[in-house]
Amino acid sequence: MKLSPPPYQPKNTFTRWLDDRLPVIRLWHDVMGKGYLVPRNLNWLWNFGVLAGIALTIQIITGLALAMHYVASSNEAFNSIEAIMRYVGFGWLIRYGHMVGASLFFAALYIHMFRGVYYGSYKAPREVVWLIGVLLFMLAMATAFLGYSLVWGQMSYWAAQVITGLFSVVPFVGEKIRIWVLGGFAPNAATVNRFFVLHFTLPFVILAVVGLHVWALHRQGSGNPTGIEVKKAEEVVPMQPYYIAKDFVAICVFLLIFCSLVFFYPNVFTDPDNYIPANPFSTPAHIKPEWYFWPFYAVLRSFTVNFMGIPAKLWGVLGMGLSVLVWGLLPWLDNSPVRSGRYRPVFRCFFLLFLADILLLGFCGKQPAEEPWIRLGQWASLYYFAFFLVILPILPLVEKTKAVPSSIEEAEKKRTDA
Ligand code: HEM
Repeated sequence: MKLSPPPYQPKNTFTRWLDDRLPVIRLWHDVMGKGYLVPRNLNWLWNFGVLAGIALTIQIITGLALAMHYVASSNEAFNSIEAIMRYVGFGWLIRYGHMVGASLFFAALYIHMFRGVYYGSYKAPREVVWLIGVLLFMLAMATAFLGYSLVWGQMSYWAAQVITGLFSVVPFVGEKIRIWVLGGFAPNAATVNRFFVLHFTLPFVILAVVGLHVWALHRQGSGNPTGIEVKKAEEVVPMQPYYIAKDFVAICVFLLIFCSLVFFYPNVFTDPDNYIPANPFSTPAHIKPEWYFWPFYAVLRSFTVNFMGIPAKLWGVLGMGLSVLVWGLLPWLDNSPVRSGRYRPVFRCFFLLFLADILLLGFCGKQPAEEPWIRLGQWASLYYFAFFLVILPILPLVEKTKAVPSSIEEAEKKRTDA
């Protein structure tokens, strides 16, 4: 049921004047203010969308400041970053803020996505919100990869080499595409320049897509942990002041963690090899991406044999591509009429196993490409794909779900009584 919120009423001559010409206060009222009604039972997992937005803002601000001093050239890139750290006023803060911010952005994004899976947020009528989310995830991954390459340290250089090398698996034209993307046979001056342009531009594309994401969400309204749609006016509260206040608390905690990491453990997420300038003649013993790519990197390395005349490397690239794209199929893979994991005990077990599986995949992706990590990664990849492509589609046919209460109010009353 769609409840009609109170419309915006300009209170004085100035706001009436402005509203006629540029209704920005009305927009705030409708999107973040009293005009957006939100289920009153949202838990703290519903704060992570806003936290991802805050992390994105930190990335854009620190990124702009870095770009004022960074030199996009293969000879100067590494040194310019070291100069930012040492000689630019608060350069260390800006650079560490950008490094730590990237990790916290992905942490917030992953929690936001897993929340969506557990509570069935991808189901009708929010499929488009979900699809735009998956697009955001892919854009974020591309941006992070490009940014990491810009450091032009050993790990940056070789990560760029490995990832662009994946293009060469495309039959017939692969090698041509790889050279075209790099602007040469290996990462070089042209590569740094184009990666910089793309890394600068993409965050603004992401920002625009976040606008679409929130717009699509507002068409249908927020979901909630019960998965039951709003039926009565008593089940909602206005975004302002209730969730603005709650988001404010979450942002404070987030900033506390961010500052603790920036000031005390700025390099906790980073590979020390990236403090060695790029050397095209010396391959690091163990090339690995940043932590947020480890699970996908493990999937890539899990394909070790040629099959059906297709080389293992091509299978790896297809597997890794599918491991991301499959998130976009979720609304159609899971047909359970029950939305929230709260009322799906069997789903809940498989979901917890899925979380453990992703951690295991990540752990395998971090390790050198040798046994037992490859074999373990293969089993973990198998469960990863089975969860999406077998378990979720079959579960609704066999699962006995708990009785779903008829309203949010009844569901929450039952929970507090229990
Ligand atoms: C830049 C990245 C992103 C930003 C800034 C962002 C922001 C937001 C915000 C502010 C909300 C409303 C509050 C909330 O439910 O947490 C939201 C909701 C949602 N987001 Fe995202 N999001 C991002 C990425 C994603 C991704 C990667 C997915 C999934 C693949 C996703 C799926 C959803 C869904 C399904 C909802 C609706 C949840 C519900 O109301 O039940 N988002 N997002």
